[in-house]
Amino acid sequence: MTKFAIIGGSGLDRLGALQVTSKRLPVTAYGAPSGVVFLPRHGETHRVPPHLINYRANIAALKSCGVTAIFAVTAVGGITPDSGPGRIVIPDQIIDYTYGREHTFSDGTGEQVDHAEFTSPFTPDLCQLLALAAPEAGVEVVAGGVYGATQGPRLETAAEIARMARDGCTLVGMTGMPEAALAREAGLDYAMVSLVVNWAAGIGGAVISHAEIGQHLEQGMNKVLRLIGRALGTALSR
Ligand code: HPA
Repeated sequence: MTKFAIIGGSGLDRLGALQVTSKRLPVTAYGAPSGVVFLPRHGETHRVPPHLINYRANIAALKSCGVTAIFAVTAVGGITPDSGPGRIVIPDQIIDYTYGREHTFSDGTGEQVDHAEFTSPFTPDLCQLLALAAPEAGVEVVAGGVYGATQGPRLETAAEIARMARDGCTLVGMTGMPEAALAREAGLDYAMVSLVVNWAAGIGGAVISHAEIGQHLEQGMNKVLRLIGRALGTALSR
């Protein structure tokens, strides 16, 4: 049976942020699930910056709990017109611009080098589960997008975002990598739900406002949770 985890990002650091609007105990062929695992990526008090997150420990811990599938929540900047603030995107591709992070479980001690297959970095079935759950949850989503993972913690320059746009990125965030790749190495299904909280640097001309980011986080996270809750309900009742 699939055991799910939610990795919470900015704006979703505590389970207390979850607003339970309905409760259901799905009955499966094997009985009731023991629950859904929640892991706040930046720590419960949001102290760990993106470049210092121990991504390997997080993924290894989830695997050791028996988790087999992850919904990763990320707050992102929007680069393309269909990815404006307030949008919820289910990306299907990723480009890695990070550096110096512990990015693999392959540490040279294994018997052979394992080149993880990563053509589709997000598990298509999980992405589809989210896309199908969206109308049922009453949440509008953009199905498909290219997440560009930057190093942070600073935001990007306008020229960096222009380059990312030329590369085909539609979103920019700081935590998607190496998290997605480690999940693949660990054999865990992984899909991302990205909440757009600002226009990326230089898009639209205005300077990025932290107040605006905070507002979009507050307004959008409940929708993200409703979407994931619906997807979980569907998956666990199968
Ligand atoms: N850039 C990188 N990461 C982000 C952004 C951004 O504009 N907004 C939220 N996370």
